[in-house]
Amino acid sequence: MKILMVCLGNICRSPLAEGILASKIVSKNIIIDSAGISGYHAGEHPDKRSIKIAEKKGLDISKQRSRKFILDDFEKFDLIYAMDENNFQDLITLARNENEIKKVKLILKEVSNNKILNVPDPYYGGDQGFEKVFEMLNEVCEVIASKYV
Ligand code: 4NP
Repeated sequence: MKILMVCLGNICRSPLAEGILASKIVSKNIIIDSAGISGYHAGEHPDKRSIKIAEKKGLDISKQRSRKFILDDFEKFDLIYAMDENNFQDLITLARNENEIKKVKLILKEVSNNKILNVPDPYYGGDQGFEKVFEMLNEVCEVIASKYV
């Protein structure tokens, strides 16, 4: 199973989603990666605030590098999780067939009865936004990881 986490910049939310899910999944047969709809930050390490909140929770995401989502990702990955509805819509627009469309999921929909659909973009806010993002992703990644034990 190959899982890709996608946000806009691949420096705030999806690097956290990648790191959190990887920490909860022990199976070597599961590959987890992340990418951005944009290439604005390609090659950069995650945002300092994402690194900081991860570190506070015992995770090291500092070695990740941002990259732009590419069409080949639709073939390489089985599941592509969008952090928000904008990312979801962008991915659906890029998808070339029904099979690719079916791979794209809004990540928070994995939490049953969840009314919140978007992991908020914390880029222009303060540290609190990153705490919130971490908590949301921690909850949903627990649900996702429970499928792969
Ligand atoms: P992310 O946050 O999508 O969670 O990585 C953002 C990071 C950078 C920008 C937007 C969102 N940006 O416009 O540069």
